[in-house]
Amino acid sequence: MLTKKIEHSLNAQIEHEAYASFLYLSMATWCDREGLSGCAQFLYRQSDEERDHMMRMVHYINEVGHHAVVPGIRQPPVEFESIQALFNLVYESELMVTKEINHLIDLCYKEDDHMTLNFMQWFVSEQREEEAMVRSILDKIKLVGTGPQHLYFIDQELQRINKAVQTATNKAE
Ligand SMILES: [Fe+2]
Ligand SMILES: [Fe+2]
Repeated sequence: MLTKKIEHSLNAQIEHEAYASFLYLSMATWCDREGLSGCAQFLYRQSDEERDHMMRMVHYINEVGHHAVVPGIRQPPVEFESIQALFNLVYESELMVTKEINHLIDLCYKEDDHMTLNFMQWFVSEQREEEAMVRSILDKIKLVGTGPQHLYFIDQELQRINKAVQTATNKAE
């Protein structure tokens, strides 16, 4: 049994994860258009992951006997100033989601809801991993600089990350 406040906040989190999924999807198609296939592949996968986070919320709310509400999604940006600006926005988005998750966890303590608190722990580790990954991408982008072939090298770097993630996924299966 969830309190009204927890049910409301979990439903709000569905919307936050869904927006992140649409934002990364929009970024992926922009990268595709710009010929940055490594970046595009990375962002398509991140978009799928955010959808998976959303679905975890949906199933949890329904599993504990409440009603997961599917929200309308606001329009994400469709144009980005540069690949640097785009990944800065990814980082900001992750920091925002971490904040929202922290608020939800604070609320679990206030409402004495240990079941939801336990469910939310997975998201805490996930945010730590995602923040670290985006930070390392931003560090690489900074190292590459803005020389004439910087987009090529940034995309190569993202290809390398995609391969590493693929290998890790294959090992886990
Ligand atoms: Fe997420
Ligand atoms: Fe995320």
